[in-house]
Amino acid sequence: MSSHPLVLPQRIDSQSGVQPKSRAAASARLERVRRDFLLFAQPAVGQEEIDEVADTIRSGWITTGLRTHQFEAAFKDRVDAPAALAVTSCTAGLHLALLISGVQPGDEVITSPLAFYGCANAIEHLGAVPRFADVAADTLTLDPSSVEAAVTPRTRAVLAGHYAGHPAELDSLRDIAERRHLSLVEDAADAMPASYKGRLIGSGENVAAFSFHSTKNLTTGEGGMLTGSPECIARARLLALQGTNRDAWQRSGPLGSWLYQVHEAGFKYRMTDIPAALGLAQLRQLDEFQRRRRLIAALYTEAFRQIDALETPTERPEVEHAWHLYVLRLRLGALRIGRSRFIEELRARNIGSSVHFIPIHLQPYYQTRYAHRPDQFPVALGNYQRMISLPLHPRMSDEDASDVVEAVVDVVSRFSR
Ligand SMILES: Cc1ncc(COP(=O)(O)O)c(C=O)c1O
Repeated sequence: MSSHPLVLPQRIDSQSGVQPKSRAAASARLERVRRDFLLFAQPAVGQEEIDEVADTIRSGWITTGLRTHQFEAAFKDRVDAPAALAVTSCTAGLHLALLISGVQPGDEVITSPLAFYGCANAIEHLGAVPRFADVAADTLTLDPSSVEAAVTPRTRAVLAGHYAGHPAELDSLRDIAERRHLSLVEDAADAMPASYKGRLIGSGENVAAFSFHSTKNLTTGEGGMLTGSPECIARARLLALQGTNRDAWQRSGPLGSWLYQVHEAGFKYRMTDIPAALGLAQLRQLDEFQRRRRLIAALYTEAFRQIDALETPTERPEVEHAWHLYVLRLRLGALRIGRSRFIEELRARNIGSSVHFIPIHLQPYYQTRYAHRPDQFPVALGNYQRMISLPLHPRMSDEDASDVVEAVVDVVSRFSR
């Protein structure tokens, strides 16, 4: 057990406390509330996806087959990847990525506490230990100097996320990985598409895992893609297919062979043709989706950047942000309310929002198992306490975006000190 007091996320959030009844009362006093609730994220799927999926179902082949292979090829071209493998989720992809990077039971993997909990879970599944390092104050991606300080003789890999779609400091992280003989794995769940110093995320030799969960910039409902060197992807392909060397299409298709061999005790992690069909349709529209995301993000930043109580997200000059999330940070000293109450106020105005993320080291499993102190990663903790992810998705109209701006500005003006 930890000798430090356990501070669970609920307690950190105890400043909130707006109950549904008082929320209704708050909204009754508001001058203008949009009619319907605006979700903070929504998939942009339409007729093109419906047609592609329907064609796949009509084809009579719905498990891993031609569509999955086509989606892999199209994705590989789009991000200029050396090789690509479609999988059931980014979490499954990260599990494979760490495994093929040589992570063994008892090894340590350095990662960010301000990340999706699945990243830490994937490390645990290998019997390895997630060792958290703090994040950079501007981008909230892994801080290379904290990574360097966290390296021990047991460290085997660094798992770096592109937080909210902003690429991590890949040059510095690669340099540490090379000097300390570590593998670098990218959690590219939010980075489709993003680039670092003119190179697309996914185009490198090291393994990167993308997510196609329903809220991501490109969705297949659930799903993911691994990119990396042909050797790494070949090993991942084998492991994702229960260790066998031929998928169902390669066995039963017109050019197939019934013969198969099991080379490893692998996993059932392969994507199938229905999600792949969705992905193919989404990929064709991705540039359009990104234009819309970028426009809404620019509109928010223009509206909020002069307001003392608000800190708008960073986009460093050397990157192209994927704008998966628009993470607004409150300057709490300028406000009479905390982040949770701010979220309740937005909800009372029919504006949905979220928080990315509750730091993993505060989660009961990780806090108890590794005796983490809440303030052990002060940048992650301090930013978590003041962050809000605003609605951002390509289906949002100009009016939706204006409603968000109006609601945020109204909450700030009512609760400024
Ligand atoms: C930053 C990040 N990494 C990894 C994942 C895991 O992705 P998946 O749900 O496809 O396993 C998510 C999921 O939302 C995420 O937000």
